[in-house]
Amino acid sequence: MPTYLPAFLDTLEAPASLRQLIINIAEACRDIGQTVNNSALNNLQGELAQENVQGEVQKQLDVIANDLMLEPARWDGLVSALASEEMDTIYPLPSKGDYLLTFDPIDGSSNIDVNGLVGTIFSVLPSPSGEVTEADFLKAGQEQVAAGYAIYGPQTTLLFTLGQGVHAFTLNRDTGAWVLINPSVRLPESTAEFAINMAYQRHWHPPVRRYVEECLAGKTGPRAKDFNMRWLASMVGDLHRILTRGGVFVYPTDTRKGSENGKLRLLYEVAPFSFLIEQAGGMATDGRDRILDIVPHSLHQRTGVVLGVREEVETVKSYH
Ligand code: AHG
Ligand code: MN
Ligand code: MN
Repeated sequence: MPTYLPAFLDTLEAPASLRQLIINIAEACRDIGQTVNNSALNNLQGELAQENVQGEVQKQLDVIANDLMLEPARWDGLVSALASEEMDTIYPLPSKGDYLLTFDPIDGSSNIDVNGLVGTIFSVLPSPSGEVTEADFLKAGQEQVAAGYAIYGPQTTLLFTLGQGVHAFTLNRDTGAWVLINPSVRLPESTAEFAINMAYQRHWHPPVRRYVEECLAGKTGPRAKDFNMRWLASMVGDLHRILTRGGVFVYPTDTRKGSENGKLRLLYEVAPFSFLIEQAGGMATDGRDRILDIVPHSLHQRTGVVLGVREEVETVKSYH
């Protein structure tokens, strides 16, 4: 007998409102996944002639997926306000609820037109009871009550945590039901696989340069083992592989103008994945500090990040 999402949620220690919120988020992801699957048929690929607040050219699907997440009926009585990578400011909802929701509607959007991996990342924070302001979203990652992502690959898969481990579900595309595939996702103790965009090598700071050089040196180098490298240009894809079979993901700050603070965004990408990775037994740092301890000072703040199997993250950290 398969275990479905609502029944599994009932086995977790969590308020009914949070369990319902996860079900509604899963539904939103199912809708986005369907839109992604049919995007070529419906002429929804390609770029728009507009940029988001990050100065990135938006794809049609970035905007459509964002709109699917904003539908107020999904969050009625559960969520007070939303914040998204694709919106300048927070989006208060007419009804109040216990939670704030932040999200990256389509992560890896450069992959859309090549039928590569994309997904949706989300994070849930507690809501204040009164009016919500931007400051209510500027909370350290350890304040998250839930985080997760859906990935629209050969299978549509949802992973999430409520702070009691990481749980994986796959969508039955015929029935629309989310089916449990792994109640407790755990990272291995060690790995021989790293993920970094090597094209920026000449701009890296010495600690990252040293780490990658030592990996590349293989069996006869200081790490005494051969490493493999993967880079999908989709954090959700790279982290899903890492949560499945191990590895380490590095998107560092570097010396380029505009990259002093890295590329990835704390609230929509890095904090939720850091929560998941820690809950799966791994570690997440910006090189010096634990990601989940960083208190953001702005909604769209970026950060350098190293996350994945603990042994590798410790190694990179020790070089800083
Ligand atoms: P998004 O599509 O939400 O803008 O995020 C893309 C991110 C992340 O998913 C990926 O790891 C990274 O950008 C890839 O960046 P490079 O193109 O610099 O490798
Ligand atoms: Mn992203
Ligand atoms: Mn995105």
